Amino acid sequence: MDPSKIDYEALLAMALEAAQNSYSPYSRYSVGAAILAEDGRIFTGCNIENAYIGSSICAERTAAVKAASEGVRNFLACAVVCPTEENCQPCGICRQFLSEFGREQMIVVRQGLADRFVTSLANLLPDPFSKAD
Ligand code: THU
Repeated sequence: MDPSKIDYEALLAMALEAAQNSYSPYSRYSVGAAILAEDGRIFTGCNIENAYIGSSICAERTAAVKAASEGVRNFLACAVVCPTEENCQPCGICRQFLSEFGREQMIVVRQGLADRFVTSLANLLPDPFSKAD
């Protein structure tokens, strides 16, 4: 799909809704994500923390795992919303994880009430570790 045809606002709205389920009692930093797959399906997720902080999972990977575990493995775009934060970027692990399922995918981010910004995963992670490696 032509990236200019993606309805980023609709994707961001779903990511915002997903952030409402964020389980983040340790960081108090809510994140929601929504992934648009090639077949048109949308998978949402939020960050889920754990008392053992290292076993927490980010919103993007929650959404990606939901998609991949349903057999959906070709992502066109991922929206990320951090409703209460002024600064928010997909972390390095999530960039790598998303790259497995769509090197061409677009990333759209909304920080708090700020304007969205749209970029590509290739821009955020130009040289991922990949199958070819
Ligand atoms: N977090 C995400 O959900 N996605 C990111 O890409 C960055 C960080 C979460 C993890 C943790 O629950 C909280 O934000 C603070 O790091």
